[in-house]
Amino acid sequence: MCKNCKGKYYITTPIYYPSAKLHIGHSYCTVATDAMARYKRLRGYDVLFLTGTDEHGQKIEDKAKEAGVTPQQYVDNIVLGEGGVLDLWKLMNISYDRFIRTTDDYHVAAIQKIFKRMYENGDIYKGKYVGKYCKPCESFWTESQLKDGKCPDCGRDVQDAEEEAYFFRLSKYADRLQDLLENTDYLEPRSRVNEMVNNFIKPGLEDLCVSRTSFTWGVPVDFDPGHVVYVWIDALFNYMTALGFENDKYNDLEAFWPADVHFVGKEIVRFHSIIWPAMLMSLDLPLPKKVYGHGWLNFNGEKMSKSRGNVVDPYLLSQRFGVDALRFFLLRTFPFGSDGNFTNELLISIINVDLANDLGNLVSRTTAMSQKYFGGALGKGGEAAELDESLKVLAAEVIENYAKQMDAFQFSNALNEAFRLIGRANKYIDETTPWILAKSEQTMPRLLTVMKNLCECIRIAAILITPIMPDTAKAIFDLLGVAETARGWDALCYCADADACWNTITGAPLFPRIDVEKELAALEELSKPAPVVEEDPLPEKLPEIAFDDFCKVEMTVVKVLTCEKVKKSEKLLKFTLNDGTGEPRQILSGIAKYYEPEQLIGKTLVAVTNLAPRKMMGQLSCGMLLSAERGDKLHLVMLDDAVPAGARLV
Ligand code: MSP
Repeated sequence: MCKNCKGKYYITTPIYYPSAKLHIGHSYCTVATDAMARYKRLRGYDVLFLTGTDEHGQKIEDKAKEAGVTPQQYVDNIVLGEGGVLDLWKLMNISYDRFIRTTDDYHVAAIQKIFKRMYENGDIYKGKYVGKYCKPCESFWTESQLKDGKCPDCGRDVQDAEEEAYFFRLSKYADRLQDLLENTDYLEPRSRVNEMVNNFIKPGLEDLCVSRTSFTWGVPVDFDPGHVVYVWIDALFNYMTALGFENDKYNDLEAFWPADVHFVGKEIVRFHSIIWPAMLMSLDLPLPKKVYGHGWLNFNGEKMSKSRGNVVDPYLLSQRFGVDALRFFLLRTFPFGSDGNFTNELLISIINVDLANDLGNLVSRTTAMSQKYFGGALGKGGEAAELDESLKVLAAEVIENYAKQMDAFQFSNALNEAFRLIGRANKYIDETTPWILAKSEQTMPRLLTVMKNLCECIRIAAILITPIMPDTAKAIFDLLGVAETARGWDALCYCADADACWNTITGAPLFPRIDVEKELAALEELSKPAPVVEEDPLPEKLPEIAFDDFCKVEMTVVKVLTCEKVKKSEKLLKFTLNDGTGEPRQILSGIAKYYEPEQLIGKTLVAVTNLAPRKMMGQLSCGMLLSAERGDKLHLVMLDDAVPAGARLV
């Protein structure tokens, strides 16, 4: 380990189901994990931050079928495609170190080995499964676990399930699990411990069904064809296969396992605090140090879900407000362990109050005054006063509290600390009235110190917000001309004395104030689902014809020489065409509504050239141009210009 390194730190997010595009609720956990990873890096840890996608299971198989693609194509599109999972994490500035997909070969092979090891040690055995299955949650339930006959997690209908299956001896580990949950800090917040112990362990843990035969999109049990491994076994072990457990792809197990913390949403705490440790116990492996079950983000008081049509789109919000503002909002507004209610009003108000008024204003007032009174250069010298001491004392207190809160995953409280310093600095401007100090030469030394104190408060606050708003912190450092070496945790000691110097510049406001009414209206408009375009009905089917009949139609490639509107006709365009014979051919076509004549000159079209000529508006038309029609839309059949005039369509 390097001399300055504080140690290893391994942190994970849940791996996401690529069954639909991710929404702001999914971003919540990933942004929190990212902030924690950045914080630990700032503190000098060697961090490994893992995220990824959980790509197997019946739900994915069904969705792929619906979409008419293979399950692999389906997940590839949602993970790698435009606006997919990888794009979203890039947009949200997620600094993950490793990304695992459960369809990765090394992971699949490792899961097969893991399953076999538990089979060989007797913890997995073959039996018959009779029970209930919740398809959307991929969860098995016993009759007694159901809530009003429905899935206790999502409240949806469950279906009967009976099949030959493998089981994991979960019941064997009940006592050890209860001890783990009740007598260690394995699961946080503590409120979730009672829920697990009282609702799941005390009523009696039943053995867990860990294979399925009714679908194929999963990791095959290699010693019993037809069975695929239960998705949660496949998914949970990602935390270890991504380090090299049972595979040669990586080699970090010794360095990073056990994980320091798994961040997970509250509804999957059960899997992480019962099934996961039990399987690790079965394999005699060290348990993760902590599982933290965060709350849910609801929308206007309701659970966010695609079917309710109330999912909040992180792309839209970051486009309107910037990624840092969104990251800040998520972590500042809701205590991490509790549920939160997302509303557009709340988002705008937090941005306006905390970011535009408090932080943004402090930075722009300070840099503007530094520019105005000192041309941006705050050199040596100055005159300190007792009042300055209060800033120094507060900064030290804020730094200490901030660290305590971050170490306890309380992002909101930690940010609160940083904003105490920002608020105090704003007040310090009012108390010291720099604009009055600037009026006399005699008070200029005092003004210089005031400006240095302001810069120092901002610099310290910027270090503290770095994990949550990395781009904003950098922008602030740049405005204040802070050296690279003064941007890290080790530079968190307050210094605004005579030797301190700054070279500040002014820039555009970091967070312009948002007009609430206007923005709410814009968001509402932009969030409206795209209008459903009704497909025009298919044209009526025609009776069958003999091949010989088809062969009677002569279809020839033609090039447009001239094209013009027919006088007094709204419908007709008159074409002169090169049909390869050397003689120009004239055709009239009723497509004036769809094309401007100039658009068509030089185009390569297809004409029926053995139709009997007929007169239209007094002019002769020798043939018919082919076009494709559906409803009120029409497109001329156009060919590549390389196709020569006179070529016959066969
Ligand atoms: N694939 C499993 C996790 C396997 S981990 C070994 C899964 N995936 S998920 O895509 O459905 O959810 C991923 C995470 O997003 C979960 O932690 C879940 O709690 C979180 N959220 C999904 N919607 C959410 C909100 N509306 N609010 C906060 N988090 C929510 O579960």
